[in-house]
Amino acid sequence: MKIRPEPGLTFDDVLLVPKRSSIQSRTAVNTASELVPGIRLALPIISANMDTVTEAEMAIAMARAGGIGILHRFMSIAAQADLVRQVKRSESFVVENPVTVPPDIPLREARRQMQEFGVGGVVVVDENGKLLGMVTSRDVLLSPDDDVPVHKVMTPRARLVVASHEEHLESARDILYRHRIEKLPLVDAEDHLVGLITAKDIVKLQKYPQATKDAKGRLRVGAAIGVRPEDLERAAACVEAGVDVLVLDVAHGHADHALEMLRKIKREFPEVPLIGGNVATPEGVRDMAETGVDAVKVGVGAGSICITRIVTGFGVPQLSAILECAREAQRIGLPLIADGGIRTSGDITKALAAGASTVMLGSLLAGTDESPGVAVVRQGRRYKVVRGMASLTANVARKRIGRDEELSQEDWEKVVPEGVEAMVPYRGAVRDILYQLVGGLRSGMSYAGARTIPELWERAEFIRITPAGQRESAPHDVNVM
Ligand code: XMP
Repeated sequence: MKIRPEPGLTFDDVLLVPKRSSIQSRTAVNTASELVPGIRLALPIISANMDTVTEAEMAIAMARAGGIGILHRFMSIAAQADLVRQVKRSESFVVENPVTVPPDIPLREARRQMQEFGVGGVVVVDENGKLLGMVTSRDVLLSPDDDVPVHKVMTPRARLVVASHEEHLESARDILYRHRIEKLPLVDAEDHLVGLITAKDIVKLQKYPQATKDAKGRLRVGAAIGVRPEDLERAAACVEAGVDVLVLDVAHGHADHALEMLRKIKREFPEVPLIGGNVATPEGVRDMAETGVDAVKVGVGAGSICITRIVTGFGVPQLSAILECAREAQRIGLPLIADGGIRTSGDITKALAAGASTVMLGSLLAGTDESPGVAVVRQGRRYKVVRGMASLTANVARKRIGRDEELSQEDWEKVVPEGVEAMVPYRGAVRDILYQLVGGLRSGMSYAGARTIPELWERAEFIRITPAGQRESAPHDVNVM
């Protein structure tokens, strides 16, 4: 048995000491950071792979704002891959697989497909994929005859403006403007349809200049997978759907089966960035690094909805975990994600100052419009539900995936939860929360005189505080309104 002489510290145990700063405006601060080598985030913030936090809507909002979302895995493989596809399709410079229809289907069917896929037009192609024409909402809106075949109402190929599949953003925008059109089909040398550029997507590109995007202009998204053998199929389906990063989702990542799984995933999908976790010690970071992961996630028992420390007695206070793991991660050159326990923008600044490259947020984002679930009203206030992924109800929900029959009494009783179900105040749109959080981070970085996150690592100095110091840090001796 060993006992460490120094107590473990968490965010409230410390403050950052102000440093001489030449930063005159918060806008001079650059919050960009590396998620994994090759993927930079304008905002160093990741939404957690929890079923009350990240599905497609959250992932889209996070990526648009410059962060990224990790889709949770508590659904069938097909459903998770579908969510990946939803995010990847949500916006792009080029729609690679536009909705197409054959020329002889009735107009009603074209209308149905436009509604089903939420698009304002379908491209008409022959059986070899050659472009024949286009039908847009203007053609279907007031048509007196729903049975007419689409080739009778479409804009035929001869009258369509098209471009080559190598079109660049600027010239595409120019063509759309010159012809006052909204859709530009892309064709190869034999006139096969190979893509579509829409004015709507170009407008979105301008609207979210910081968005986290891949080389094709599609939003980036991550997906969580577990350690079971079938999770290799899950990984394969998500990769096939275009996922940008895989995240191993295990509470105790410093375990042989988790490390083995990381090795297997790296072997199978060497080109897809992989995040390993969770660990809370430098030894854990080192062993993860040996599996070939591209980043490591740190945090055991720190989450707002976790009871792991109470149920098992294990964990490391989060600031100490980040500080100790970051030394090792930076020595190896592995980005570190601080996961769990973050409640304020000040906590984000502390986590990054301690050596993290990015932070993962759960309950702080669970109250937003974009998190799964609806808001409920309790005593006149609106709340949303957040639950630990090892909570009783999350465990039971997981057992139900792919099963038709009701769960037995035993199914419920056999669960030993390590998380709780809870309510968080409803907080509106995620971009508003992110604005506040990043505003606080920028201000924090200016107190450190740090223009970048690596500068923050260098310049940060923590001071331990007492309970009296904590009391002084919060509003005191006034009645807060
Ligand atoms: P916050 O504090 O941001 O933490 O809500 C989110 C992180 O908490 C972890 N998590 C859990 N940990 N039991 C645990 O011990 C659970 O049931 C549980 N659910 C989520 C996870 O790392 C998440 O990102």
